[in-house]
Amino acid sequence: MRIKLTSISLLAALSLLLSGCAHKSEMDKYIDVLMSKMTVEQKIGQLNLHSAAGFVSALRVTENDENVKLLRKGELGGIYGTGNVEAMIEYQKIALESGAGIPLIFGMDVIHGYETTFPIPLGISTSWNLELIEKSARIAAREASSCGINWVFSPMVDICRDARWGRIAEGNGEDPYLGGEIAKAMVYGYQGRDGEYASDEVMTCVKHYALYGGAESGRDYNSVFLSRQEALNGYMRPYAEAAKAGAGSYMSSFNEFEGIPSSANKYLLTDLLRDTYGFDGFVVSDATAVVEMVAHGLGDLQEVSALAIQAGLDMDMNSDGFVGTLRKSLDEGRVSEADIDRACRRILEAKYKLGLFEDPFKYLDPSRKATQTWTDENRAFAREFARECQVLLKNDNAILPLDRNAKVAVIGPFADSKSEMAGTWATSSHNNEFVSIYEGIAEASNGKVSKAEGSWIFNDKELEESIKYGLMKIFAPNMSFPTLHGTSKTVLMAEAVAKAAASDVIIACVGELNNMSGEGASRTDLGIPDAQKELLMALKKTGKPIVLVLTTGRPLELTWESENMDAILVTWAAGAEAGHAIADVIYGEVSPSGKLTTSFPRSVGQEPLYYNHKNTGRPHPDYEPYKKFTSCYTDELNGPLYPFGFGLSYSSFEYGPVSLSQDEMSPDSEVIASVNVKNTGNYEAKETVQLYIHDVYSTSTRPVKELRGFEKISLKPGESRTVEFRINAETLSYFNHELEWVCEEGDYEIMIGPDSERLQKRTLAVK
Ligand code: BGC
Repeated sequence: MRIKLTSISLLAALSLLLSGCAHKSEMDKYIDVLMSKMTVEQKIGQLNLHSAAGFVSALRVTENDENVKLLRKGELGGIYGTGNVEAMIEYQKIALESGAGIPLIFGMDVIHGYETTFPIPLGISTSWNLELIEKSARIAAREASSCGINWVFSPMVDICRDARWGRIAEGNGEDPYLGGEIAKAMVYGYQGRDGEYASDEVMTCVKHYALYGGAESGRDYNSVFLSRQEALNGYMRPYAEAAKAGAGSYMSSFNEFEGIPSSANKYLLTDLLRDTYGFDGFVVSDATAVVEMVAHGLGDLQEVSALAIQAGLDMDMNSDGFVGTLRKSLDEGRVSEADIDRACRRILEAKYKLGLFEDPFKYLDPSRKATQTWTDENRAFAREFARECQVLLKNDNAILPLDRNAKVAVIGPFADSKSEMAGTWATSSHNNEFVSIYEGIAEASNGKVSKAEGSWIFNDKELEESIKYGLMKIFAPNMSFPTLHGTSKTVLMAEAVAKAAASDVIIACVGELNNMSGEGASRTDLGIPDAQKELLMALKKTGKPIVLVLTTGRPLELTWESENMDAILVTWAAGAEAGHAIADVIYGEVSPSGKLTTSFPRSVGQEPLYYNHKNTGRPHPDYEPYKKFTSCYTDELNGPLYPFGFGLSYSSFEYGPVSLSQDEMSPDSEVIASVNVKNTGNYEAKETVQLYIHDVYSTSTRPVKELRGFEKISLKPGESRTVEFRINAETLSYFNHELEWVCEEGDYEIMIGPDSERLQKRTLAVK
């Protein structure tokens, strides 16, 4: 029976392969003919990517538009940053009538939804629900493609171990295994699974390749100092998995690795990405990353452009390095025509695969948008998804779920905000139509609900204005913005305290503004900003129970809050349906089921902080106080405040004993680890069962534990289920000191549990 199944799947794989080969040879022939008619300048033109001028809605295509001028000269291969189909049709027509008549590719930062905004990527990862994650990308693809977009700058798969880095919000946390699974789900969601692009499927651009999340001290764009071995074991897996899933393109990152910026790093761009991961699409630089290599100190624009194309970069975003210098470099023998041809071919192949040569207007149907974006169905999904992306960190005396008849005061600067639910990178969201937390609570409650802003974000008005408006000021320098801090702090707080005192329970809505995370938004203080912290302290004095509803783009330091709040619900930036989804959890419509994908610190001084760290020769237990001459701090514990994988439920789960089908295996066999999980509480609820491994003795040092499997299950009260994990050589392998992927002989600890700390251990011997 087993042999039969294998042979059927082999046949299926073979026929797919053969049809793939047929496609490839047709494509090759088509592109050979096309390129034989192109001049060198036209080929170089294909390597140039520019952003669209102005705002999406204001975009007008005129002959003064820089992109039109470039198109007329045949010097542009793609445009990104607009979803204005009418304008894109104009651009496409100009592209077809100019130069070699090659259609444009249209890119966009579609990160967590398009018009229908889902929770930020870090929030999405806390669902541990690959099916919903894939579906969210599917919906985003449908919406974006109905606005002319055929290429999305997503998924962002950078592993990050340092909460100071603002872009931790855009990725999936600190674990490479989970990150890899999410990367695949996102690629499948956007591109589909059959290797063909339907007109509502779009090409992905995996970013930021590579290791961008390893920025030293969490400061954005900073250098990355990792060994190759640590990079491969701790960070590269999601990029590799995305390639396996068929990702169409990659974006080279801003950072350097081993002294060479990623955009000119042959080891990353060619040796690993193509020769090892088997990627066969094209690589675009991040915005201005090519010209930035001048500041990195690698040479002038001509030099860095030549270095980049030779290392394996194919398209230059916004630097004009390729279009401005490659012809000269060719004449001077600095680059060869083969370098230019290689890059040009890869971009033409992407356009071919998208079907743009067959129909350049395939994605440019202005009638689609009205029925395919921001629909009731998509919003309903945004609500369902956001329910699963909330993590309950504390729930003393089972204060949650709240009684619907309770009198509630919804307090804080995030209480009735719609736009702050959008998160970073919501470029096309309908902020004004979002559901605020207050609105969601008011709709769901049967009791009296009051609201108050309660405080500013920061006591420093200039800081608050520069963060809140910083991005807009760059894109719209002439726009004027409302002055913040119009109402005095005392007035805001007095109103909040009075309303809180008149209620049965306080829902305190505080946290980080959208612009406090994302690009160029690193922090050295990971606390709740000062003005809001003062509000929490004043609310505490009322003696009323407080449910802290946290909006944040990163793990925060919540030590005081963990001691003084009755419940803490991390909602990230929960997207378009934030208020509904949060109310669904607060009133127990669903039990929370999110689990952390980043460690929450006790102090910023612990960063970088991550569960899969190495041991030292003088290890110190995570939750024991200072002891001289062991690896610890004099003034803080080693362990996180809330660990990776942690999240509470309204129900409770009992884990039975973990068992292994055998306690020995050979590298070519398989063992099943299993555990029975029972819902022992009163709520139907979901639980993510997690599998970790630890190699006890190995030829290189290994992390104290590493996630290697998980399954999210749903159980009714009293129901139980046995969860099984297959363990084979692949599960246990790592990159050794010689950078070989190996499963070493010896003992392994196999650990299963509800989070990275409450684990049952068994020993498995590999012989
Ligand atoms: C960001 C990328 C983004 C690109 C285009 C860059 O600044 O780092 O994530 O895709 O801009 O908008």
